[in-house]
Amino acid sequence: MLKMIIKLLFLLLVLLVLFSSCSFSAANNNVEDLPGIFAFGDSVLDAGNNHFNQNCTVQADFPPYGSTFFHHPTGRFSNGRTVVDFISQYIGIEFQKPYSEAHIEVLNGSRKAYPSNGINFASAGSGVLQGTNKDWGITPLQDQIQQFQALVEQNQIDQNLVQKSVFLFESGSNDIFDYFLPFDTPNQLDPDAHVQAMVAQVMKFIDQIYKLGARKIVLVSLGPVGCVPARALLPGAPTDHCHERMNVMVKNYNKGLETLVNDIPIKYHGLVGAYGAVYDIVQRFRAIPTRYGFSDVTNACCGYGKLGGLIQCGKEGYQTCTKPNEFLFWDYFHPSEHTYKLISKAFWGGNKLQIRPINLKTLANITIAHT
Ligand SMILES: *[C@@H]1O[C@H](CO)[C@@H](O)[C@H](O)[C@H]1NC(C)=O
Ligand SMILES: *[C@@H]1O[C@H](CO)[C@@H](O)[C@H](O)[C@H]1NC(C)=O
Ligand SMILES: *[C@@H]1O[C@H](CO)[C@@H](O)[C@H](O)[C@H]1NC(C)=O
Repeated sequence: MLKMIIKLLFLLLVLLVLFSSCSFSAANNNVEDLPGIFAFGDSVLDAGNNHFNQNCTVQADFPPYGSTFFHHPTGRFSNGRTVVDFISQYIGIEFQKPYSEAHIEVLNGSRKAYPSNGINFASAGSGVLQGTNKDWGITPLQDQIQQFQALVEQNQIDQNLVQKSVFLFESGSNDIFDYFLPFDTPNQLDPDAHVQAMVAQVMKFIDQIYKLGARKIVLVSLGPVGCVPARALLPGAPTDHCHERMNVMVKNYNKGLETLVNDIPIKYHGLVGAYGAVYDIVQRFRAIPTRYGFSDVTNACCGYGKLGGLIQCGKEGYQTCTKPNEFLFWDYFHPSEHTYKLISKAFWGGNKLQIRPINLKTLANITIAHT
């Protein structure tokens, strides 16, 4: 009997050791030397910056945003984690703080320094063009870069952190969606010129962050924006199928982004880039939903009216579905956490149809020589 108890205790000890070493490695950086992520762009990546912007009307800081994973609103435009969060988990680092929050905390003295796992600068509602939604109190891409630049120039973030981190960029859907708003400016550019102006801004973005020390960058392309439930708000837009003219613009913009990534080895010494093909990834979910765990790839889980696209989730009169993660769309513009998770997985370990020329796992593990 005693022998058996000792045996059992020993077994328990072995299991405990195994288990703790397991959780130890999971909690630690499982990638060689990748300390952080810097995120720039719009609501797809925003982790709560707009909440701290005075008079900003583009918000997700109220219930039921965040309800599935965080169980409270965080300012993220989904029911849970976004792509930046999942990738942080794969790398083995903590979620990045919104810049605005870290900035306030440094100013008011409740935090000594900026975080060492990167910063999230993304602002919901912003576009790649300076003027997109400028009256809504959002932070345009150009201002996000300036915020980052100031931190680098004032030595508030370490150059070594900048060089080794991944720079995640996702923006452009607001510029394209707004192009189809009925009350737009009179001398509007034609669709091709609009897209060219957008791509030129992204090129400038790459230039600037490269000069500030970035050496790993991922351009996340746009999904089929013409399929978002919010198209029901546009007079004359189709609701029985996607808005094709919008999707054509999206595809042209994506082509421009991919060209930028392909040019990186020629134009920027020491910079490594990847292009995330979200359009194709999401079209596959829409084509064979059940294989990816979706029961609805058309309507917003949370919203109201046609396609659930007529009011924002959480606003007066909204309704919500019971299984958000069976929906492609959480609200009128944004994917559910499940969709973000699948996209993140495709980025992390995916093939060239999903992310190219290399996936994030490979990109993350490239050693950048300290200069
Ligand atoms: C916010 O709005 C108030 C009232 O309209 C105004 O006084 C204030 O200057 C605005 N703040 C910013 C940062 O725009
Ligand atoms: C500093 O700002 C943060 C973020 O707004 C807030 O949570 C905290 O209470 C503030 N601390 C002080 C000491 O004012
Ligand atoms: C990264 O590279 C190191 C050696 O260079 C290797 O041991 C490790 O398994 C790689 N990690 C990943 C996630 O590929």
